[in-house]
Amino acid sequence: TKTYRIAAIPGDGIGKEVLPVGQRVIDLVAQKHGFTVEWTEFDWSCERYHETGRMMPEDGIEQMKAFDSIYLGAVGFPGVPDHVSLWGLLIPLRRELDQYANVRPVRLLNGINSPLAGRGSDDIDMIIVRENVEGEYSEIGGRVYQGTEHEAAIQESILTRRGTDRIMDYAFNVAKTRKRKHVSSATKSNGIIHTMPFWDERFAAAAERHPGIGTAQFHIDIMTANFVLHPDWFDVVVASNLFGDILSDLGPAVAGSIGIAPSANINPEGKYPSMFEPVHGSAPDIAGKGVANPVAAVWTAAMMLEHLGESGAAADIERAIETSLERADTKTRDLGGTADTAGSEAAILAALS
Ligand code: NAD
Ligand code: IPM
Ligand code: MN
Repeated sequence: TKTYRIAAIPGDGIGKEVLPVGQRVIDLVAQKHGFTVEWTEFDWSCERYHETGRMMPEDGIEQMKAFDSIYLGAVGFPGVPDHVSLWGLLIPLRRELDQYANVRPVRLLNGINSPLAGRGSDDIDMIIVRENVEGEYSEIGGRVYQGTEHEAAIQESILTRRGTDRIMDYAFNVAKTRKRKHVSSATKSNGIIHTMPFWDERFAAAAERHPGIGTAQFHIDIMTANFVLHPDWFDVVVASNLFGDILSDLGPAVAGSIGIAPSANINPEGKYPSMFEPVHGSAPDIAGKGVANPVAAVWTAAMMLEHLGESGAAADIERAIETSLERADTKTRDLGGTADTAGSEAAILAALS
């Protein structure tokens, strides 16, 4: 039988509560679909930082290269500054494993009420394709005139032609697999006068390389408004690193909850393993209480299996998620239900067996 080697990094907070749920779901569908998963656990986290002064060992990235994929919970917890924990683990993994395409589907699932009145499952079905390794997230910059009244912080934003073209191509290729075959670009070329006009140029060039795909472009400010007012306008959305980050919390909010949102950090060339993690973070406000919604981690598990070529297993998981959302006592509180994490897991596992 086929065996996949997967690195599991639960990380911090509710990452440690929801990742094991996803692992148990995978182990169950694996049996049914005739493959096995060999899990290797890594304790890389803020706790480890307190003990060792590092979020992961010096050769951490190298260690990851041996795996077929990486399954990660969440990184960051009060007690370690966020820029230290994130730049010590999550962000270097994405960048050094060249996972430049961050794919974040947003769908209004059966059994979930959108906070937008009158919206059903046909109205919200999009995929956010976020540039994941450059843009506004950069190490270039610093402080000047520290401690004086002229003190300033400078943060450069870098869009390379190669980096921009490849994320555009990725988004257009995703659009080709979809019914509506449409890509919307998030820009801000009216205010950000160097990077964003370049982004628009590269979007237009990509549209020419991919005939037959409809296009639209919105400044990020009105795009956020349109996510709320007209979510049905959007199919594939391509965005820079920061804009994509913001849109991928807003999208899941209009589709019910950040607690269900999955995400894939893809290295499309397959040179390095891709990494799969929920969109949400460590949720310190509910961590340790056993009430976190495990659906984001479980849906993320489905994305990982799909990526590994196990489409049947992935589809089974998605169906089981929807079954678990039919009743209030088997979905969690963020979705208006009454279940805790264990209750939601039990319903998903039951729907699978
Ligand atoms: P968050 O996503 O952790 O939490 C935001 C809100 O959503 C909280 O009220 C939380 O309780 C709720 N929530 C999130 N996931 C939920 C779930 N599965 N079920 C029910 N409720 C859920 O965002 P934050 O508060 O901005 O960040 C907390 C920490 O996590 C910070 O250290 C941040 O840097 C980090 N973070 C990490 C990632 C990641 O690892 N990919 C993503 C986002 C934030
Ligand atoms: C996400 C998170 C991260 C990001 C943070 C924690 C650095 O918000 O995965 O969406 O901005 O990419
Ligand atoms: Mn985010």
